[in-house]
Formats: sequence, C-alpha cells, structure tokens
Amino acid sequence: MDTNITLIKSHARKLELKNPILNASGTFGYGDEFSEIFDLSILGGIVTKGISLMPKQGNPVPRIVETACGLINAIGLENIGVDAFLAEKLTFLRKFNTPVIVNFFGNTEEEYINCAKKLSVKGIDALEMNVSCPNVKKGGIQFGTDPKILSSLVKKIRDVTEKPLIIKLSPLVSDIAKMACASQDAGADAITCINTIPAMAIDEQTRKPILGNVTGGLSGPAIKPIALRMVWEVSKKCSIPVIGSGGICSAADVIQFMLAGASAVEIGSYSLREPFCFPEIINGLELYMKQHKIAAIRDIIGKLKI
Ligand SMILES: Cc1cc2nc3c(=O)[nH]c(=O)nc-3n(C[C@H](O)[C@H](O)[C@H](O)COP(=O)(O)O)c2cc1C
Repeated sequence: MDTNITLIKSHARKLELKNPILNASGTFGYGDEFSEIFDLSILGGIVTKGISLMPKQGNPVPRIVETACGLINAIGLENIGVDAFLAEKLTFLRKFNTPVIVNFFGNTEEEYINCAKKLSVKGIDALEMNVSCPNVKKGGIQFGTDPKILSSLVKKIRDVTEKPLIIKLSPLVSDIAKMACASQDAGADAITCINTIPAMAIDEQTRKPILGNVTGGLSGPAIKPIALRMVWEVSKKCSIPVIGSGGICSAADVIQFMLAGASAVEIGSYSLREPFCFPEIINGLELYMKQHKIAAIRDIIGKLKI
C-alpha cells in the first residue's frame, strides 16, 4: 500500500511525505510532549508552533474555551522566538525520521522577512507562513485578507528563502481561491487551508467574556464544513497542492478533504482531546485503502464525483 505524497516538487524545492497526516501548528507545541505518547516518525511531517522574530508572551488567561462543537483559543501566538527555537528545539525535532515544517508569522513585512531568513537553515524542510496576523503598518488589516498585501509579502519571502513555502490562509475572506492564486503567482509552493475563524464566548452569570482577550479563533468540528468548501474552491482554481485544516477528527474526515482536493491534512484541536489520534487515523487510512482497493492514496486527491 502506497501512502506516499510528493507534496512539493517544483524548481529545486521538494517535500516528500510518507503519508498525508501532519499535526496542525499550535496544538502540538514543539513536539516534545507528544513524543512521549507516540513515535513522531510515523507522521507525514511535524509542524511547529508559530515562531516569530522575537519571543512573544501571548494573551492574558483564560486562553481556551470549549464550545458545543469545537474550541475557541486566544493563545496569542506565544512562542520562544526564532533564535531560541533554532538553539533549543530544532535538534530535538530532527531526531525523527520525518520532515520538519516551521510555522512562522510577523506583524510587519520586515518581521516576516527576517524570521524567514533565520529559518532558512539546514534541518528545516519547509516553511508554513501564517498570514492571519494584523499588519501594524497598514492599520491592523490581516496580511491574508488583501490580495495585494498578501502577494507583496509572499514575493518578498520567496526572494529570501529557497525553502518550500506553504501559505496558511485566513478564512476571513469572501473569495479564498483569489488569495490562494495570489500566493501561487507570488511564488508559493503550497497552500494550507484554513486557519481558525474569529469567535467569542460569554459567561451570562458574570456578564463577562470568557476569554482574557475577549475574542479568539474557533476550531474543531464546527469549522470542518467551511474548511472543506474552501479546500475544494482553492484546489479547483490553483495548481499548487493544498493542505486541509479544520475540524479533522477521523480517517473519514481525511478522505473527505482529499476528495475535495487536499494532498495532505493537518490535525489540531482533536489531538488535544485524543493525543493518540495520529496513529489511529493513519491506520484508519490504510484500512480505507484496503477496503476500497486503493493502491496509492494520492489517487483519491480531488476525485470528488460531481
Ligand atoms: C490552541 C491553538 C493554537 C494555534 N496556534 C496556531 C499557530 O501558532 N499558527 C497557526 O498558523 N495556526 C494556529 N492554530 C490553528 C491550527 O493550526 C488549525 O489551523 C486550526 O485550529 C484548525 O484546525 P483544527 O480544527 O484541527 O484545530 C492554532 C489553533 C489552536 C486550537
């Protein structure tokens, strides 16, 4: 049974996955805790927590609240900063026999550029750029919500790194395919679709918002149908591969995303509740392949029957 996915093969850049299952950024830390639960080498790739140029403390607590069908987080992208990441975390991640994909972000183009430059070192297999961040020099508008701002950012990052470059899109747009195509034209190698959706929760007893930051990002099963639709729209319009993210909890969910056009997927919120879900979902994929006599998992990508 062939579960390999050649995710990226363009120019001199290449990213091969032994299977399409990745963890999502921010729900897996730097891999250390999960490595005590299962062998991270079984994953198609490891995606790190979002890394920024300088360390970031994140938002006031409470930072996570559970909702009927998922969770809202307002972690605020807390991280140790790129220098400490390279010095303290990368060697550990390299111990596993799977690609290391570093998620990164900034609040200005310069921060993104300088972070990408520092991350362009041996031992990092790809960069995933989170563009759901406010551009402080443009009145706080998210980089990923304006095609011109997005395109300018992607071009500048493409100029400073030879690493495979994945753009993780914000769902806060009316036409996600337009953002994906703008990223592709600017030099992106792949798209991750989608990040969390802005949301809030209120305690009616205290009449206060539950999260310290008032609002946060909704993830989990509640957003799956939206993510699925967006993956489908992007994969119809773009030729670069799409990584699905949003509410994935089972092998069936993975197959649905692949039929919609995803070449790989990321599992986030569900793994906080079920840390063993990674080996289980990988086994479930193989079972599906056996039951449906699928020789190579890549054969189902985009095979939705309409
Ligand atoms: C606690 C938490 C932290 C997250 N941190 C990041 C992050 O640092 N960078 C990023 O691009 N996405 C981040 N995300 C978004 C996830 O990577 C993922 O795209 C999103 O949660 C949807 O997938 P899910 O429904 O499987 O969680 C975070 C999500 C959660 C729940």
